[in-house]
Amino acid sequence: MAVTNAVGRSILGIAATAMSISILGYGGYKIILGGFTVGGLMAFHMYSQGLISPVMRISNVNIMFQSVYVSMDRIYSFLSRQSGISSGESCFIPEGRLSGNVRYGGVSFSYGDVQVLRNVNMEFLPEKLTAIVGESGTGKSTILNLLYRLWDVEEGCIEIDGRDIRKYDLDYIRNAVTVVRQNTYLVDDTIYNNITLGNPDVPEQRFREVCHIACVDEFAENLEEGYHTRVGENGSRLSGGQNQRIAIARALLYDAPVLVLDEATSALDQITESRILCHIKRNLHHKAVVAVTHRISTIRNADIIYVINDHTVCESGTHEELMETRGKYYCMVMRKIDEEE
Ligand SMILES: Nc1ncnc2c1ncn2[C@@H]1O[C@H](COP(=O)(O)OP(=O)(O)OP(=O)(O)O)[C@@H](O)[C@H]1O
Ligand SMILES: [Mg+2]
Repeated sequence: MAVTNAVGRSILGIAATAMSISILGYGGYKIILGGFTVGGLMAFHMYSQGLISPVMRISNVNIMFQSVYVSMDRIYSFLSRQSGISSGESCFIPEGRLSGNVRYGGVSFSYGDVQVLRNVNMEFLPEKLTAIVGESGTGKSTILNLLYRLWDVEEGCIEIDGRDIRKYDLDYIRNAVTVVRQNTYLVDDTIYNNITLGNPDVPEQRFREVCHIACVDEFAENLEEGYHTRVGENGSRLSGGQNQRIAIARALLYDAPVLVLDEATSALDQITESRILCHIKRNLHHKAVVAVTHRISTIRNADIIYVINDHTVCESGTHEELMETRGKYYCMVMRKIDEEE
């Protein structure tokens, strides 16, 4: 395109100059012969110049069409891609709200030939805060991605409210699980619109409530324009931690039966992180909340902690129970204490 553009422009430039020279040459010759006036020649030359730029623009149209065609081709090939996962024949949609009782029964999963999960058994209960800990790359995010069928399990099954997730309608199950990841995405709009996602029916009190739970109120209310401050492209005018708080508030407002926080508080300081989890724990209305974090100090209050090691759940229990067991979790806590000292 660049070569075509450069050659096209050069040819058109030379043609325009040649046209000017010809007009002036022939016009001058006519003036000498006395059949034409200088004013007439100048006027003709001026009008002919006005023709050059539209001709130049027409030459660009082809290039524009070509690039739009390539973009459209990419977009359509993306939109027409078939997902490996589909609802198929299963389209169960329960009448009421799901209670958020999740059970993993002997779940195994591999990415290609690499096994990432082996016989994982765990349970997330409604109105309980479940924490998942483990070293980096042990499969914590994979466990959670299987919950909303980004991939399907290889062996075993995942049930929500006693029914295999593959039996539910795919869109329904994805709407029932809200995920907040480490990397949040905010649109270039106000804090308010990023939380409500443009829904005009959000009651003011509910909005304030979620902002308080996610500690958004702490910084937003001190800003000059409050909740109507623009966040910039992908939240560039706010800090990473502030973006994460907005994403958590947005997820809480959506109020799905299962809320997953996959290192969603990683950019926050330890105190704010603990405070958010404390608030969430106090406001668990009809929801199961699962938090993955590397900071053990913030999940002491979790109702149950699962420790993932060597592709499977190696321990589970409350903080106190796990400390008494003196296993993997105990070692992790002790190592953290050593590091902090
Ligand atoms: N899409 C993928 N394709 C192939 N391998 C993957 C894919 N996603 C993750 N993995 C591999 O699976 C393993 C588990 O990844 P996962 O993201 O679940 O770990 P994690 O416990 O969440 O780690 P972290 O604490 O760093 O977030 C890793 O070894 C990773 O390399
Ligand atoms: Mg992860």
